[in-house]
Amino acid sequence: MSTIDTVAVLGAGTMGHGIAQVSAAAGCAVRLYDIDEGAVAAGLARVRANLDKGIERGKVTADERDAIMANLSTTTSIAEAVDGVDLVVEAAPESIQLKESIFSEVDVAAPEEAILATNTSSLSIGQIASVVRDPSRFVGMHFFNPVHIMKLVEVVWGPETSDATRDAAVDFARRLDKEPIVVKDAPGFASSRLGIVLGMEAIRMVEQEVASAEDIDKAMELGYRHPMGPLRLTDLVGLDVRLGIAEYLHERLGSDAFEPPALLRRMVAEGKLGKKSGGGFYAW
Ligand SMILES: NC(=O)c1ccc[n+]([C@@H]2O[C@H](COP(=O)([O-])OP(=O)(O)OC[C@H]3O[C@@H](n4cnc5c(N)ncnc54)[C@H](O)[C@@H]3O)[C@@H](O)[C@H]2O)c1
Repeated sequence: MSTIDTVAVLGAGTMGHGIAQVSAAAGCAVRLYDIDEGAVAAGLARVRANLDKGIERGKVTADERDAIMANLSTTTSIAEAVDGVDLVVEAAPESIQLKESIFSEVDVAAPEEAILATNTSSLSIGQIASVVRDPSRFVGMHFFNPVHIMKLVEVVWGPETSDATRDAAVDFARRLDKEPIVVKDAPGFASSRLGIVLGMEAIRMVEQEVASAEDIDKAMELGYRHPMGPLRLTDLVGLDVRLGIAEYLHERLGSDAFEPPALLRRMVAEGKLGKKSGGGFYAW
């Protein structure tokens, strides 16, 4: 498989702007696509703001920032975005219909040998890949937020992903200075599947008054060296978001370990969604 020099990133939001930034920093020519001018401009401004912060912290030089910005171009035409590229990374909203429709277009407009990747955090890689003519070149590349800081990339291989495609995704993640892990296309991949079990059990422990939220978090932070306990993390991600993932995994994997506790449902119903609502397991 040839090297990856040109990358199209589809969706310039929270994840897309970050994926574009790290790809441009690795020396690729990056085309950042979104549905309107405002969205691509906002994505580009976020990249610049990240880099400016990097300069303030002494991690990036002004020359490096300028070189990275020079590697980035923007477009609101999907055909223009994927024309002649080596890799497409889709980071549009988490909807199977939307992703299927995007990849139907990409399939026609991108080069036949381009690798097609989705940044989905939960959807089936095999299902999205079913809309392209050659699913062997389709793979999941699950980045974490904020992309320019978080090291992990889950490379998710679907039932028809070729070894060459999987290996190319792993190599590309390394080139971005990330740590790739290789995971089969199974619900929750590796990260959400483990993270949700821990999160649900921690909430059950609050429900059963085993310990306070602070002390349950400290058990993991100080006892297991997790950088953040599962309850604080739930507050940051959003209780509604975690509930949605837990329900999905409970349904798909059938294990009681994923069953959302009544306390979580009650808090979501009461609008206690975590940091974004001002309160969850902690006051924010
Ligand atoms: N936010 C996270 O922490 C996180 C982490 C890992 C993976 N993900 C996944 O990444 C993907 C994007 O999430 P996000 O948080 O960046 O969302 P976001 O809402 O911040 O950004 C999505 C962007 O896609 C654009 N968009 C809408 N319709 C589009 C279309 N048809 N084609 C191209 N772009 C379109 C929107 O204008 C927006 O700019 C989702 O699949 C999500 O599950 C998110």
